[in-house]
Amino acid sequence: MAASDDHVEYNWYKGMRLASHLVPEDMDDIQDFVVRDDDVFIITYPKSGTAWLQRIVSLLHFGGDVSKTDQKEQDELVPYFEQKCGDSATFRKLPEAPSPRLLKSHLNFCHAPVQLTQGKGKVIYVARNPKDVAVSYYHFHFMVTTLKNPTSWEQFVQDFVNGDLSRGAWHDHVLEWWQHKDNPNVLFLRYEDLQKDTRKEVEKVAEFLGWSVTPEVIDTVVEHSKFKKMATNPTTNKVDGKEVKGGIFDSSKGTFFRKGVVGDWKSHFSDEQSQWFDAFYKEKLGPTGLQFDFEG
Ligand code: A3P
Repeated sequence: MAASDDHVEYNWYKGMRLASHLVPEDMDDIQDFVVRDDDVFIITYPKSGTAWLQRIVSLLHFGGDVSKTDQKEQDELVPYFEQKCGDSATFRKLPEAPSPRLLKSHLNFCHAPVQLTQGKGKVIYVARNPKDVAVSYYHFHFMVTTLKNPTSWEQFVQDFVNGDLSRGAWHDHVLEWWQHKDNPNVLFLRYEDLQKDTRKEVEKVAEFLGWSVTPEVIDTVVEHSKFKKMATNPTTNKVDGKEVKGGIFDSSKGTFFRKGVVGDWKSHFSDEQSQWFDAFYKEKLGPTGLQFDFEG
């Protein structure tokens, strides 16, 4: 399986692997990016619910009016900040963009624009149980042309734990942002809480952004950000069920809206794998106070 994608090369940035659509020179320049007070960054380790938050934030921005959100593709409404897009990275084109700029990013805290880390603009960070992230990221590697196909699930889990994947180690990413969760411009959410009580989390997002919305708007946001709605809407899902082969995605190799559930790790982890994985992360997370239900 690996032989077919031998051409896939990673970039390196400060000891971290990066897929080739992420360029080290861009990463350097990101530090000096001029942040606006009303910028909204949705930041995650990959496969933690980024697209879900993109949808929630864009719906909130348009007061739940789907006729407005669905005029553009979600990735146009909430572009990928650091990704090379055409001849330059998205963030280089943002000085001309109108406010508020809604953005998605997978940057570690230490690689984020300095002004953002110092309190300018807003960050909505979403974390997800690493066992489900690992499963989701494993499948994602088959469909993304700039990521190497995993040679086996066992090897992939090892690489995940070692941080030997594009974006480095899950625990470094999540714990850096967790350490700054009380910064006034950071809202730290968990995918599992969004699943448990979407309405409550959407209300939190609206309040954090200071956007006043009615209960009816919240209802609409909850409804239109549901997994099934997003999976079947061409503006939120431009990949699945279509013949997308050019660019980063190959829709013949996988599904972006795969399952959207909590606990899918159970269909992939052996008991032994689960035990050592849990032990590793319990040790990393234990002293920090960040908790996930590893058995759930
Ligand atoms: P699975 O692969 O476990 O299904 P990201 O957007 O950060 O890449 O995360 C993708 C993961 O979030 C995928 O997980 C995807 O199915 C899930 N997801 C996307 N939209 C969702 C939604 N509206 N509700 C629940 N899960 C969603």
